[in-house]
Amino acid sequence: MKPHRIAIFASGSGTNAEEILAYFQYHPSIEVKVLLSNNPQAQALQRAERFKVKALTFNKAQFRDTYEVLAWLKDEKVTHIVLAGFMWLVPDYLIHAYPGKIINIHPALLPKFGGKGMYGKFVHEAVKAAGEVETGITIHEVNEHYDEGNIVFQATCGIEAVDSVETIAQKVQKLEHIHYPKVIEQWILQR
Ligand code: GAR
Repeated sequence: MKPHRIAIFASGSGTNAEEILAYFQYHPSIEVKVLLSNNPQAQALQRAERFKVKALTFNKAQFRDTYEVLAWLKDEKVTHIVLAGFMWLVPDYLIHAYPGKIINIHPALLPKFGGKGMYGKFVHEAVKAAGEVETGITIHEVNEHYDEGNIVFQATCGIEAVDSVETIAQKVQKLEHIHYPKVIEQWILQR
């Protein structure tokens, strides 16, 4: 067994999950053990299966009112949790079980454009509406509040007047795919 073992939490398409699965597939010391989703329709689940990584789903009651998900993580001897487009607040018991060991990616430059309801295209719409000249990504540790943990890494991209919400989303997604796996690797190995 490798010394560092990741669980990915993803709610949707899972393009970031896919980059992470590919990056760590043959890594000498880090492996993805399981992908967990609150959404049985999430494409992320099939992506994990294609990498022969276990994929499990849970509902709100299981996640909030029981320790079932924590038991799965313990079964897989997970050491770090990576949120990749995961849309629910992480409950306190998980944060306490993995202190400083949960990381998230947000598609904007926090502390701007964060908080409850700020996810996916809603973030890019808000950025465009505010007339920002740059946006980017924030990779941060997760605490009890949405988008407020210690910032680990940020990268920026410019916004031109001609950019639409869609082209902004594409630029940000490109940054996410380039940086997230490498930042996860450094975050795990250097702490
Ligand atoms: C990503 O852009 C990620 O930054 C965002 O959801 C998208 C998931 O895409 N996360 C948030 O908005 C969290 N507040 P993916 O499913 O293709 O990886």
